[in-house]
Amino acid sequence: MMNNRSYYVTTPIFYPTGLPHIGTAYTVFIADTLARYHRKLGEDTFFLAGTDEHGGNIAQKAQQEGVSPQEYVDRFAEGFINCWKELGISNDYFVRTTDQKHIKFAQDLLQKSFDAGDIYPGTYSGWYCSSCEAYISEGDLIDGKCPNHPTKEPVFTEEKNYYFRWSKYQEWLLDLYERNPKFVQPDKWLAYVKDFVAQGLNDIPVTRANVSWGAKVPFDPEQTIYVWYDALPNYLSVLNFPGHEGFEEKYWPEAVHVIGKDIIKFHAILWPAMLKSAGYEPPRQVFTHGFFTVNGQKIGKSNDNAISPVDLSNKYGTDAVRYALLSEFRVGNDGDFSEERLVVKYNTELAGSWGNLLNRVIHLSITNRLTDFDAEEEFEKLVTSFTERYHQYMLEGEIFDALQAALELASYGNKYITDQKPWEAKEGEAIQVLSNLRYLLKELNDLYLPILPESASKAVKALDANEKVILFPRLE
Ligand code: MSP
Repeated sequence: MMNNRSYYVTTPIFYPTGLPHIGTAYTVFIADTLARYHRKLGEDTFFLAGTDEHGGNIAQKAQQEGVSPQEYVDRFAEGFINCWKELGISNDYFVRTTDQKHIKFAQDLLQKSFDAGDIYPGTYSGWYCSSCEAYISEGDLIDGKCPNHPTKEPVFTEEKNYYFRWSKYQEWLLDLYERNPKFVQPDKWLAYVKDFVAQGLNDIPVTRANVSWGAKVPFDPEQTIYVWYDALPNYLSVLNFPGHEGFEEKYWPEAVHVIGKDIIKFHAILWPAMLKSAGYEPPRQVFTHGFFTVNGQKIGKSNDNAISPVDLSNKYGTDAVRYALLSEFRVGNDGDFSEERLVVKYNTELAGSWGNLLNRVIHLSITNRLTDFDAEEEFEKLVTSFTERYHQYMLEGEIFDALQAALELASYGNKYITDQKPWEAKEGEAIQVLSNLRYLLKELNDLYLPILPESASKAVKALDANEKVILFPRLE
């Protein structure tokens, strides 16, 4: 099945200053699920992940480790690439901002804004947090410290640099949100963005004089492009890389940017304005999710809880990890991860429900030598009421609710088999009940395919071949 729509989904490009943890894996699982779902719909899909490798913070870290910035980012970028591979992430490309092709594009973009009169020289002074690579406004400081890095001293900095005329785009942005009420999802994050813009935008510095690790400003080589003006263009630069001929026409402005709420201002307010200034269309959507804590604690080195998703996946299987994260709360909200909960949910909602139903139906199919999937019309309609709900949710990116719909269908199947007792019925009756169940399972497997791909592929094969399989061995 092919339709002629194209779909483009991105993850944030992560700072390669450590290895992925549960929080970063969460973003990537959302994007991977959406990519798989849209591919399945037959849409021409492009799924992008990557790393954000420039800036003073990275240069500082490299220095601390006694290696060059390039060596430093090479090492960690490889860590990200391998991690996504090990987790079976289906990204079509991995972009790195140190790639010359990207640098060239980011420079061209800045030049276009410069030519449009939107970049002008100035000086800037303020409290700079090197961990955020950002100036923190006076009002945001908590006891003189960065709210995100309370153990770090922000430094009062003054420098010459170039500003982006962000303020010029206030009305245009408000109009964009009005015309595209789904531009930021979920709704509460659109409300946040509108409110922020309505209060007025200040022009911002987009270059740095003191940082050398980055792309040079094309019209002033003394200056380096400041991180966000270097990072955000990755979403568009890759569409122009050699081998990607025709991608820009095909995938822009289709982009759905999956991001965490911490970077919503940059994606929903700065990026569209940058694009407009340089003559491009804004992306389709900024899809914003909330944050995970682990056992009630913020994820971070200081809390020593940056659990590796690969370690968890080796222990429980990748789908168990995907399920634990994607079924915990609705996109946009915050929540907590714990291994105990992973185990409970795995046993009850996966092994006890879908896995159990699959076992029972394959077992009975073997004893009855049944291979068809011919459900009665009424039964088929009933199953469709679940699958339609699932699809509505998936099209909105509401994976949490889609998973609930799938779980309800699995529970319905288990109840139906228990009520109908096909093992007791006379032969003909048993067979119709079983065919209904086989149809239900075929549909159910299909619903799980984009979300829990490994298990669902196994389930599809086992059901097709009537081969016994333990989809989710019970965990103690
Ligand atoms: N490099 C920038 C992004 C540039 S995109 C053009 C950046 N990188 S980051 O490495 O700090 O990653 C931030 C993203 O990681 C968040 O937006 C979010 O998607 C994800 N998360 C980091 N910690 C997280 C949690 N604790 N929970 C959920 N997501 C988390 O910002």
